[in-house]
Amino acid sequence: MEIEDKHILITGANRGIGLAIAKMCAREGAKLHLVLRQPNAELSSQLRGLGAKEVSVYLADLAKREEITQLLLKLDKVQVDILINNAGLLTGGLIEAQPLDDIYSMLQVNLLALIQLTRGLLPAMVERGQGKIVNNSSVSALMHFPCASTYAASKAGVMAFTNCIEAELKGTGVSTLCLITPGIKTRMFDEIAVKYAKNLDVPQDFIQPDEYAERIREAIKNDDSYLLPTGMTAAGLSVSRYLPAIFRWAVGRRFRR
Ligand SMILES: NC(=O)c1ccc[n+]([C@@H]2O[C@H](COP(=O)([O-])OP(=O)(O)OC[C@H]3O[C@@H](n4cnc5c(N)ncnc54)[C@H](OP(=O)(O)O)[C@@H]3O)[C@@H](O)[C@H]2O)c1
Repeated sequence: MEIEDKHILITGANRGIGLAIAKMCAREGAKLHLVLRQPNAELSSQLRGLGAKEVSVYLADLAKREEITQLLLKLDKVQVDILINNAGLLTGGLIEAQPLDDIYSMLQVNLLALIQLTRGLLPAMVERGQGKIVNNSSVSALMHFPCASTYAASKAGVMAFTNCIEAELKGTGVSTLCLITPGIKTRMFDEIAVKYAKNLDVPQDFIQPDEYAERIREAIKNDDSYLLPTGMTAAGLSVSRYLPAIFRWAVGRRFRR
């Protein structure tokens, strides 16, 4: 699908991967609808300066179901062509050490908000016979490390959800793209070290958000179903899939209780 002139809704667009996607879409001449937690006039003018045809901002805390309901009401008149479910939270550490409130908020933002927004915006796309849902999952959906239990569960959920609706949408003109996102140098990437370091030596491979946004641009334009990692992360993914005993052994060597 082309990006120019499309109405694109991006959650978590103020920083990290979401900001890089917003800038990429602005350079392509999209009409942007950003879901943020705080107003950010500077961001809107930056994106207009890069070439965005429109920039609208909607404030919502995606950890709150009622705020997503209100957001969907505000979006009622917007013909969203591409929904990019990007906002996310990280949890980490031994399962018994993860605060329950953090686990609930993370599942709400990473999984339930993504489901609620998709469910809310899909019917109009199907009616128009055109649209795309882009869901930001993670290599954690497929590579299961200690200390990542609840976060990995959320991202495996994102992947399963995306696969199921892809099948449901066959023949409707609406497609899905699941991002199997590797390490990207953002606030969340830096948080991994803090949350996991006590128990796990975390691999430090990463790429920059702008480089990843370019890959996402290509995947959207090519109507790919998946954006898979490359390089060392791709190699790790293959080992986890085809040589699981070796993967578990290698991970076990990095872990201490
Ligand atoms: N970075 C990586 O290595 C990596 C790897 C795999 C997958 N991912 C996924 O990529 C996505 C983006 O992550 P990132 O690395 O760019 O992280 P980030 O820099 O921490 O950005 C996270 C974004 O989500 C927003 N967000 C968090 N909680 C929210 C809430 N309750 N309501 C609304 N927005 C909320 C944040 O808004 P505030 O600024 O207001 O907090 C921020 O815009 C996430 O889904 C993450 O799981 C990242």
